[in-house]
Amino acid sequence: MADIGFDGQVAIVTGAGGGLGREHALLLASRGARVVVNDIGGSVHGEGNDRGPAEAVARTIRDLGGEAVADAHSVATPDGGQAIVDTAVEAFGRVDIVVNNAGILRDKAFHNLTPELLDPVIDVHLRGAFHVTRPAWVKMREQGYGRVVSTSSNSGILGNFGQSNYGAAKMGLVGLTRVLAAEGAKYNIKVNAIAPLARTRMTEDLMGAAAAKLDPALVSPVVAFLAHESVPVTGEVYTVGGGRVARFFVGMTPGYTNPELSVEDVRDHFEQIRDETGYSVPAGPGDELKALMEALGQ
Ligand SMILES: NC(=O)c1ccc[n+]([C@@H]2O[C@H](COP(=O)([O-])OP(=O)(O)OC[C@H]3O[C@@H](n4cnc5c(N)ncnc54)[C@H](O)[C@@H]3O)[C@@H](O)[C@H]2O)c1
Repeated sequence: MADIGFDGQVAIVTGAGGGLGREHALLLASRGARVVVNDIGGSVHGEGNDRGPAEAVARTIRDLGGEAVADAHSVATPDGGQAIVDTAVEAFGRVDIVVNNAGILRDKAFHNLTPELLDPVIDVHLRGAFHVTRPAWVKMREQGYGRVVSTSSNSGILGNFGQSNYGAAKMGLVGLTRVLAAEGAKYNIKVNAIAPLARTRMTEDLMGAAAAKLDPALVSPVVAFLAHESVPVTGEVYTVGGGRVARFFVGMTPGYTNPELSVEDVRDHFEQIRDETGYSVPAGPGDELKALMEALGQ
């Protein structure tokens, strides 16, 4: 089969001034995509801004013979998101791919979580994906083509101590991914997410010995595949790190059914309710409703 290529396509990668986003931008550009390298250039906690990191990555891409422009708008506001998409359209005339990757951390145990620790994290990770994807989506619908890859995290999918703000935002992105997959289907827009594991400035203090194996460049092949025309799936989430790729999914147990359900029934059948034997993976709310109707014998 032919190699994966992106000739003629335009990709926006947010937070691409360093870490994972830089690797995604470099890989997409090396495969022929014209890339908007977006990054506000702030600290890991979301303070400050600097055009330098986005400019440096765009320059590296051009030095390697690719096409890229830098953009230093923030994803955290609707105006910023619109401006990022405008940069793509002004520089390259279209947008085919959005990689929502920008992120910050403000970790704190929940009882100490103040609005200053909550709001910026939700604004960058969750609202940021809305702000950038929505103006791009309008174009994708018009052109009948688009690919969106968002960056979730095991912190939300599995739950990590001290990251209620971040984990909730990251799981919110899974919901956004699934809804947009449903809305994009008839316009050939496919929307998926990754939950990466990589050594970056965000994780350098957290990963200990494992970090050595977790080169961020080993995450980008999955992003590129999910961003490609040939990707066979939509609405899915892949965990990726150190060269391993696997799928996270939401499963549903066969459960317990009783049309006269009482609170004691729930207690007395709780093991059966939780039993994973014979679980299914509903593709959407329709599958869940179908399983319910079958259980009710209708
Ligand atoms: N590294 C990991 O193991 C890991 C694990 C799970 C999820 N993630 C996610 O991967 C993504 C990339 O993180 P990373 O590890 O490369 O860290 P990173 O800090 O190197 O990269 C994040 C980038 O986002 C940029 N950014 C922050 N706020 C922005 C804004 N408002 N607008 C535009 N750019 C902004 C930062 O300047 C930075 O360059 C993040 O969404 C992070 O939450 C990373």
